[in-house]
Amino acid sequence: MLGDAKLESEDIVDLEKLRLDLVCTVQVGGSQSGALHYAHLNLGEAEQKGYIEEQARSIHDLDLDFAALIAALEKEAGRQKVIQKAEGQLRALVVGVYRDRRLSQWRLAEIVELANTAGVHVLDTIIQMKRKVDPRFVVGKGKLEEVELRCLNEEVEFIIFDHDLMPAQARAIAAATDLKVIDRTQLILDIFAQRAQSADGKLQVELAQLKYNLPRLTDLDAGLSRLTGGIGGRGPGETKLEINRRRARDRISRLEKEIDKLSKGRGMRRSRRQESEIPIISIIGYTNAGKSTLLNMLTQSKVFAEDKLFATLDPTSRRLRFPLEREAIITDTVGFIRDLPPDLLRAFRATLEELEGADLLLHVLDISDPMVKQKQETVDALLEELQLSRIPQLIVYNKSDLVDPDLIKLTRQSTDTFCVSALQKTGLRELVKGVGHYLWPEEEPIYLPGETAADEDLAADPSEPISA
Ligand code: GTP
Repeated sequence: MLGDAKLESEDIVDLEKLRLDLVCTVQVGGSQSGALHYAHLNLGEAEQKGYIEEQARSIHDLDLDFAALIAALEKEAGRQKVIQKAEGQLRALVVGVYRDRRLSQWRLAEIVELANTAGVHVLDTIIQMKRKVDPRFVVGKGKLEEVELRCLNEEVEFIIFDHDLMPAQARAIAAATDLKVIDRTQLILDIFAQRAQSADGKLQVELAQLKYNLPRLTDLDAGLSRLTGGIGGRGPGETKLEINRRRARDRISRLEKEIDKLSKGRGMRRSRRQESEIPIISIIGYTNAGKSTLLNMLTQSKVFAEDKLFATLDPTSRRLRFPLEREAIITDTVGFIRDLPPDLLRAFRATLEELEGADLLLHVLDISDPMVKQKQETVDALLEELQLSRIPQLIVYNKSDLVDPDLIKLTRQSTDTFCVSALQKTGLRELVKGVGHYLWPEEEPIYLPGETAADEDLAADPSEPISA
């Protein structure tokens, strides 16, 4: 470029966006005629700036082996591609706009965990503190450019927004950046889709996905390949988009009918259980609190438990045996999470319906989590919304092995609060005793302090899984 100025920010944007080897301006005329500014990509350390800027007083004084520099840049760029390919994992940047810095930390940690659970490697998080999100791009235009540049520099395939994007926002961001854009709901749906195991769970996920996608279908979509066959002929003049929408709506109503049918069957099984007068205990709690682990330990059964969000999707019910021939049914539910979109919540009603018949809720909380209070409030708010807050709750602080014993003492001051480590099997006897006392208050306590009841007394019969 010939000019009379230094490199402009647009020159740097071009350098990074277009992956040029080098941009350079040479001053023509004036007292500094021949002065030179140039910049090239910096492919060295990942944490450094994406480019290096240099200058020379005159083009004639320039002491630079241009060919060697370009060769080195090309070589480094090639090497980086090989490294990324070898890792073979989807890479993303997470973007969020927040009002409150403290809450932003919690929300970011959660979205990163969601992304990891979905199998995505989060390279970095980019946040903007703002009172209101930008109606078009969520973040401001300058911030979006920064995100875009980072993605280009690091060869990241997509951006994950810690927000629920309106269809128009998602389209505008994708068009402005040429990147794949994913929002929080999509991420949760993706995890659900990977994890649903029962026929019921799969139907629910498909329904939720279709409901999410319907307003987002555009003419550009390749078509819903799964939704073929069995659907009426195309009307004359109907566009591809209209056909796709119609197919999606047809499929939605069919799925809703199937789910209703399954739900009736479950309702009947549930009322049989209720008639049998065996009390039903449901384990609830924020995702990853340790619900499945607790159920496993209480019943010695093996329900899918791993350190990823939403490991549990399908309702699981087991029998929990108490001494003196008493027993209860204990069920695990899907992990709760804040801001679950209403359509998603409705789609997972199969799992949540289980809660309606519960006599007692065990609300599991991760005591080691700094955001435990907020998560407890989120779960309580969701229970309220589902009209389930009338069901009595016992609070179970789990993961006590990870915290200071003094904190445990503080949390154990109320009779309906327990502290356990499901993993280390501590505090479980106290908990079962508390549950027994709640369910059969008129009877003698199951164990007296210091009494040595054999652990087997608490174990349920693992050979008796009860279908949901
Ligand atoms: P969702 O299905 O996602 O809702 O999760 P969940 O609440 O059922 O949690 P899960 O039982 O899958 O446990 C989540 C992680 O926490 C797993 O890695 C468990 O091993 C771990 N975990 C559970 N209980 C304890 C505990 O008492 N102590 C410690 N240190 N880790 C625990």
